[in-house]
Amino acid sequence: MTKPFSLLNELENQDASPAHLKRNKIVSLLKEKFDFENSHLRPPSSKEKGILAKCFGYLAPDQAKELGIYPYFKEIQEIDGCKVIIDKKELISISTNNYLGLAQEPRVIEAARDALEKFGIGCTGSRFLNGTFNLHKRLEREISSFLNREDTIVMSTGFQANQGTISCLLGRRDVAFSDRENHASIYEGCAVAPGKTIRYQHNDMDHLEYCLKKHSDVEGKLILTDTVFSMSGDIANLPVIVKLAKDYGATVMIDEAHGLGVMGEQGKGVANYFNLEDEIDLYMGTFSKSLGSIGGFISSKSKITEYIRHKASAFIFTAALPPASVAGVTEGLDIMISEPERINRLRDNTAFIKRGFFDMGFQVNNNSIPIVPIKIGEEALTLYLNRLLFDDGVFAGVAVSPVVPPLNAMIRTSYTSAHTQEDLEKVLGSFRKLGRKLGIISTE
Ligand SMILES: Cc1ncc(COP(=O)(O)O)c(C=O)c1O
Repeated sequence: MTKPFSLLNELENQDASPAHLKRNKIVSLLKEKFDFENSHLRPPSSKEKGILAKCFGYLAPDQAKELGIYPYFKEIQEIDGCKVIIDKKELISISTNNYLGLAQEPRVIEAARDALEKFGIGCTGSRFLNGTFNLHKRLEREISSFLNREDTIVMSTGFQANQGTISCLLGRRDVAFSDRENHASIYEGCAVAPGKTIRYQHNDMDHLEYCLKKHSDVEGKLILTDTVFSMSGDIANLPVIVKLAKDYGATVMIDEAHGLGVMGEQGKGVANYFNLEDEIDLYMGTFSKSLGSIGGFISSKSKITEYIRHKASAFIFTAALPPASVAGVTEGLDIMISEPERINRLRDNTAFIKRGFFDMGFQVNNNSIPIVPIKIGEEALTLYLNRLLFDDGVFAGVAVSPVVPPLNAMIRTSYTSAHTQEDLEKVLGSFRKLGRKLGIISTE
């Protein structure tokens, strides 16, 4: 249960100063009571010794809970599209990747229920040995056909699809070139692999070229990029990446976690949007965003997938995706293809909300990605605003250090085809009201 929030009330009652001064006082008060600088990475030292000392000295979550600004692990008691019940209270969720509203779609649930009844709750083994069901193979064929790829491997999570693929492809003498804003699973794949990784500045094509040039003598080069970056909502500059890959003889692997179902024809992703599908060597996607479930996949040429299938530890040494999830995703994919109105509604909603934030004075990306970070800067202020939004019926996420650099904290908002105009207006209204109250946006 979220702690009652008394800080605001104290300040409200005792202080009649203008919004920006009141905001400064709140920030100072929060900083006084919460060790922002040391809490995330360097917990205070403890008398406990040894490997577990860090755990006993890690006070940040308790401090934040005590202040009522702890934003994580909120317990969702009920969910219906973009409406959630938390602490027995209904909120509009703008903290969801259920872009096409498929997570609770009745036909998806029915398909999942049928598979559940037929096969049970799990596969009780790895795809490699005893966990490959005909459902997995059917989904792999459907994805390959949808994306016009020779072959696909369905894995248990998107994280594992990245981690497993990269770690088995990047050999000792190879070099990966990875955008600095890439997802953690790409980082992990690179960290486990024997090859070297160079991180180029986010979406900076001059820097990527500089790095490629510097390593032009290396034979095995792999460029890794999210197509849509999960925090900023930026789109990767695939046309230039593909050109550089050709110029310098590199392989390209893309992570379409947030591109699938959002960009391109029928939601095929960013590579399709740029008409570059044939130039991409490996296409990674997840089922945990637009397809509303869990799981991930890699699509590529058969010789490549066949290698990954037999070499990727994160695929081989883990249990297979459960039957209900596989069947639900297969149904969801069919719905995504046959009901383009969902993608159209998502795009309309995205345009509407971005226009609303822009008119209010927030800086937003001029693209059709439904991830809309609202940059606040100060961590204390961000956590505080997030709490006020929660109290006002809006459930959003935050990105604070180390996910983003210190002083670049943001409320990460995202939208779906299931949001109604009324929901979106309510969200904008809350941001307007609270943004003004805290002096984040002007009152004019
Ligand atoms: C860009 C990106 N790649 C990969 C993943 C991992 O996918 P999953 O949650 O399906 O494991 C995510 C999920 O947060 C993501 O945002």
